[in-house]
Amino acid sequence: MLGFKNFMSERLAIDLGTANTRLYVQDEGIVIDEPSVVAVDLGFEPAGRVVAVGFEASSMLGKAPEHIRVIRPVRYGAITDIDAACAMLSRFIHNARSRTRFSRFQAVIAVPAGISQIESHAVIEAAEAAGAGRIHLLEGTLAAALGAELPIAEPVCSMVADIGGGTTEVAVMSLSGIVASRTTRVAGDQMNMAIKNYIRRRFDLLIGDSWAERAKFSVGNACPQSNDNATIEIRGRDVTSGIPKVILIDTHDVWEAISGQVDAIVQTLRSVLEEIPPELSADAIDRGFLLTGGGALLKNLDLLLSTQIGIPAIVPADPLSTVLLGAAGALDCMTDFSSHIIAGCSRAARNIRPALV
Ligand SMILES: Nc1ncnc2c1ncn2[C@@H]1O[C@H](COP(=O)(O)OP(=O)(O)OP(=O)(O)O)[C@@H](O)[C@H]1O
Ligand SMILES: [Mg+2]
Repeated sequence: MLGFKNFMSERLAIDLGTANTRLYVQDEGIVIDEPSVVAVDLGFEPAGRVVAVGFEASSMLGKAPEHIRVIRPVRYGAITDIDAACAMLSRFIHNARSRTRFSRFQAVIAVPAGISQIESHAVIEAAEAAGAGRIHLLEGTLAAALGAELPIAEPVCSMVADIGGGTTEVAVMSLSGIVASRTTRVAGDQMNMAIKNYIRRRFDLLIGDSWAERAKFSVGNACPQSNDNATIEIRGRDVTSGIPKVILIDTHDVWEAISGQVDAIVQTLRSVLEEIPPELSADAIDRGFLLTGGGALLKNLDLLLSTQIGIPAIVPADPLSTVLLGAAGALDCMTDFSSHIIAGCSRAARNIRPALV
């Protein structure tokens, strides 16, 4: 039976992302890794009833009848629908902790570096509604650096680029502090949107997000050569006739669609590098930078970025989990009675940092 000690020390790490939500339970590992999507049946008064979350809800996107709303409650790294976010997080946490008897727990939650006070309160509110007692917010780039075991406390350049669904976050850390950082809303979702727009323009075909993403996964390439010409069949609705249509697109089509977004990511990295002192720039050449988040899986993005900014990109074995593993590492440094709910990430990071490094 779980005793008082277990009750007090039950700990979760959460990466509440625009595209995916991941949960780590201390001593168990990653227990949830699912799309950040929730489906609500509006037929139930007063606020509707959650009918699905994660993969199940994601499979309903673009296909649900009118009385079911399929919601992505996180956009561009921020909670845009607090009720839906609370419902989704509660369900995920419930699923993750179904074997435990207690309703309260402590959590480290990874959030975007530039999160506003209002947004951080929304995250806290969602976690509290799901049963969290003590909550620490941890900057995503810092979590990624911890997850990849970068020497952030040393006087050297530790650089991270986290390309997720909603945001690209870039930060340079040294001596346990962030020296320069930048967040842009150009990431995986914008690439999907660009592919949809391109296909509509070029082929007169309306396609859904899932087909755009499928194209990006299978034939996307950030640095295609003339002999890179993989193809994929894409299905959608003809704009003019309104009837279903199938077309074939290739690597160069996807490149043309997403090159603007890739360029914007290059510019974000450059703008951060321009801000750091020359000693750290010199370091960066040897040490490289951590390229993480789902966007790191775009074929040849590491090659392109390394060439464009002159620093080698290092992609971890599982770039989708780096942030969560960093937040999970921070769990070990929490003591049961030492922390309170913290609305400012920098303060949270400060609290956790000394014990970690
Ligand atoms: N093989 C791949 N090629 C290209 N993009 C990919 C690949 N695999 C995943 N992605 C993209 O990565 C993104 C999801 O990454 P991730 O889970 O890190 O985002 P997130 O943490 O939910 O978002 P954010 O950090 O912006 O809030 C999606 O846009 C997805 O399309
Ligand atoms: Mg993320």
